[in-house]
Amino acid sequence: MSDNRKIYVTQPSLPPLEEFTEYLKQIWESKVLTNNGPFHRQFEKELAGYLGVKYLSLFTNGTLALVIALQALRVTGEVITTPFSFVATTHSLWWNNIKPVFVDIEPEYFTLDPEKIEAAITPQTTAILPVHVYGNPCKVGEIQKIADTYGLKIIYDAAHAFGVRIKENSILNFGDLSILSFHATKSFQYN
Ligand SMILES: Cc1ncc(COP(=O)(O)O)c(C=O)c1O
Repeated sequence: MSDNRKIYVTQPSLPPLEEFTEYLKQIWESKVLTNNGPFHRQFEKELAGYLGVKYLSLFTNGTLALVIALQALRVTGEVITTPFSFVATTHSLWWNNIKPVFVDIEPEYFTLDPEKIEAAITPQTTAILPVHVYGNPCKVGEIQKIADTYGLKIIYDAAHAFGVRIKENSILNFGDLSILSFHATKSFQYN
């Protein structure tokens, strides 16, 4: 006998649809679906408050946010990053004509090993792109020290780290910039 039941990697847990219909009505009536509309702005404002960051911008997805982050900080040449991530981390470099230089992860939390970063720095290195893997924060203090010593930018791929804090400080406040993702496989906590 065959069993056709699907086993999902994740499924969203959604509130009742009725909770959204009032908002949908407002959107339908306003006919504003693009170009920084009122709900877009409200979402940015409330998200910034919830996440404890001063500045926040919405993008189509995390991949595009990474691509634009590198351009916004004028990153070029070589960037030190980790292969232990979703492929978008490396794609964002490649699509910007930047050479990814892979450094190994540390065994406990699977994040970029700060002790191995310095050996990978060359005159072409302009930035470090670490990933907070499975919500585990990178060793942000050690990475910042290296970046300060060599004058490097830090962009954190925080796609797995929505709502993560170090003590009371948002993980998004470390480095020069961080990106998040709302992909279906990411988990969110909202109280
Ligand atoms: C570590 C990491 N970086 C970047 C991305 C890209 O995010 P998105 O799927 O929103 O483009 C993902 C997930 O998809 C990810 O897991």
